[in-house]
Amino acid sequence: QLARLPESVWSGDADALRAEFSACTRCPLHCNATQAVPGEGPMGASLMIVGEQPGDTEDLAGRPFVGPAGKLFDQICAEAGVDRDKAYVTNAVKHFKFKPRGKRRIHQQPSTTEVEQCKWWLDAERTAVQPRVILAMGASAALSLTGNGKNIGQRRGKVHQLDDGTPVVLTFHPSYLLRLQDPAARQAATDLLRADLARANQLA
Ligand code: URA
Repeated sequence: QLARLPESVWSGDADALRAEFSACTRCPLHCNATQAVPGEGPMGASLMIVGEQPGDTEDLAGRPFVGPAGKLFDQICAEAGVDRDKAYVTNAVKHFKFKPRGKRRIHQQPSTTEVEQCKWWLDAERTAVQPRVILAMGASAALSLTGNGKNIGQRRGKVHQLDDGTPVVLTFHPSYLLRLQDPAARQAATDLLRADLARANQLA
């Protein structure tokens, strides 16, 4: 049984949606984040793309994938011929998890419990959007959607079926590409992410 929110919440009133998400106290991450960052994109989008959690830039802007990882994501979308505005782009976890270090806020990976608690929202988004295909980018998205966030390198490119039959294509997270120091390794991983995105888009 997928989570349901009142129809009015998804009816195009972005402020109402944001208020609903921001009122969430299901896990402690709401205490330190600036705001919850809901997914973005049309209801009925055939492709849903799921990342990990908002980063520092997204936490301040209130929009997903608008920081450094988002810029790379945009570039890979363009190269793969995917129109980002036609997809529903969201995250497994809706609040930014970080550790303060001086003036900086250092990203921390959400725990399994936090991913599981936030799955209620991802399920609600799936119910509202009804995507034909989902692209899960990175460990947290894979954990939320498949119950297993391990071995993305081996599982990427494969299609996992959700209980309701929705195909989920697993792939790397753009931030992983940014962390790779070796240019050849980064290029190789970028090529795979681009191919996985194109495949998901073709299935959608
Ligand atoms: N990384 C994510 O997983 N999501 C964002 O929205 C930004 C960076």
